[in-house]
Amino acid sequence: MFQILHRDGLARIGELEVKNRKILTPVLLPVLHPFKIDPWISVVKQLKLNGVITNSYILKKGGFQEGKDVHDLLGFSGIVMTDSGTFQEHMYGELNVTNLEMVRYQESINSDIITIRDIFSEMDHSEEKIREDIRENYRRGKEAISETGKYVALPIQGGVYPDLRKESARMMGSLESEYFPIGGIVPFMERYMYSLVIESILNSKSNLKSSAVIHAFGAGHPMFFPLLFLAGVDVIDSSAYIKYARDNRILTETGTADLSGFAEELPPSPYLDRFNAKELLSLSQDERTNVLGMHNLYVSVKELENIKQQIRSENMWNYAEYRAHSHPLLLEALRKFDDFYGYIERFEPMSRKNPVFYTGEETLKRPDVRRFISKAIESRQGVKIDKKPYSYYSDSPNVLVQSQFGAVPLFLDETYPVAQSLFPGEYYESSKDITKFEKPEWKEFLINKVDRIFEYQFGRKLYSILDRDKITLQRSKNTGKIRNVFYGGEQILALRASDGLFSLTYNGSVLIRSNFHFPQHRVIVDKEVSEFIRQGKNVFAKFVEDADISIRPHDDVIIVDREDNLLSYGRATLNREEMIEFKRGIAVKNRLKSDDAS
Ligand code: GUN
Repeated sequence: MFQILHRDGLARIGELEVKNRKILTPVLLPVLHPFKIDPWISVVKQLKLNGVITNSYILKKGGFQEGKDVHDLLGFSGIVMTDSGTFQEHMYGELNVTNLEMVRYQESINSDIITIRDIFSEMDHSEEKIREDIRENYRRGKEAISETGKYVALPIQGGVYPDLRKESARMMGSLESEYFPIGGIVPFMERYMYSLVIESILNSKSNLKSSAVIHAFGAGHPMFFPLLFLAGVDVIDSSAYIKYARDNRILTETGTADLSGFAEELPPSPYLDRFNAKELLSLSQDERTNVLGMHNLYVSVKELENIKQQIRSENMWNYAEYRAHSHPLLLEALRKFDDFYGYIERFEPMSRKNPVFYTGEETLKRPDVRRFISKAIESRQGVKIDKKPYSYYSDSPNVLVQSQFGAVPLFLDETYPVAQSLFPGEYYESSKDITKFEKPEWKEFLINKVDRIFEYQFGRKLYSILDRDKITLQRSKNTGKIRNVFYGGEQILALRASDGLFSLTYNGSVLIRSNFHFPQHRVIVDKEVSEFIRQGKNVFAKFVEDADISIRPHDDVIIVDREDNLLSYGRATLNREEMIEFKRGIAVKNRLKSDDAS
């Protein structure tokens, strides 16, 4: 029902299919009052949204009969998710409806995503009470699934208690659903406790399957969107657009602006361009709320589109860091990610298309940077030399060069993220001054560099496997940098200029297969698809039987069958747990070329 199309760490663009209706995530489901859909449903259509959320408790109380279709009521053919009344209970006190009643009702009105009547964990509820409530929520989830056998949303509660949040996620995750809202976070957001929201999301997500669809209930302010999606949220719903409008407040990507603060001109917007500030203020309260609400929804949807673009271009961390600097409590929430490094790192690509942009001390805690530091730097001690251009070089593995990430082994100074980063005050040239040297000792240096990059990437020194005398290099005519690596005349590796890491060739894959124990660097596929893989077709997650646990997105891997016959090689788009847990989507992009040996 869910697959990843593009990803940047935990942030992902996915396709969710429910009852033959498809929706692209990340997505914002506007909250619609089912009996007050004008003018909202036309705005939803203008903005080309194909999902909304409405409330089954209000529908039921308002007399919308069982057996009628909620899509007809709304005049909307996209995905309609329904909530269950839990939020009304949180706002107004106890409701007299049972879980089963609400689930049956939602089913009868043809809701696409049914939500159980969960118990809301309030911030001031005791640990004991919440412990009982998450058990009861689990029971209700189980009841809902056996009643409907359908796509049921199972909210994760737990209040302010991390352990209960985790426990709730594990319990709900054991049920037959793929859709998990994070519940009880509205009060955190109302108090700007963004860090607690991120903690609740990551404690939930890290205890669910990677293929679970994560919904953040009521996460409506666009200034928080980048961090939410960076944490791997797929769906949000929002009534913020209208709530803020009622108070004459305009949402922006970085905060909120009061209408009274505008003298004349309003922000450029298709929904505001008929008015200046005075004219808008002279409208009736209802008219003004509608105009501002439409604009607020437009701003939110635009920000969401922007975020999708950031994910596609693998720029999410840069973007989220940049945005987090618009509010100190967003910055606090950004810092929270570091507490989850062990989890987040598993989903981090080995390199990104975009350079690491320094925005502050948090940049050095980014998971891709932190991994590089722990893998390449922390364990190294040695002689430090200058910044580029180097006035000195050495073959010793102990020679370190000063970089913004700390002292980096000289051999890794072109590998992501060292050369692919931008810090203030950096103006040095690339290292062509070194590599253009044609003295014999420089060739030696480059041969050693191949060895060390290979070790960084694959975990073993190349020359512990191969005879170094049979290695030859092909270098760029312009820059003198290493391009291709040959062994006994056959190309085995190509060094990518973009991230300073190797791509395998077919011969390189043979080398990996024979020198690394099964299942290292391998993705193991079902025999059924062997022939397709040999022909160069991509590997779909559905056909992955197992994979090396250390594989990260973007890693170069070899593709084998259960008997370790080499089928092809490629670039992983998922890590092992994703390859196994997802039933749809591409797991490895096949790189086999037509002139490869077969
Ligand atoms: N809407 C906002 N928060 C919640 C929640 O915790 N549960 C449900 N069902 N709906 C919500």
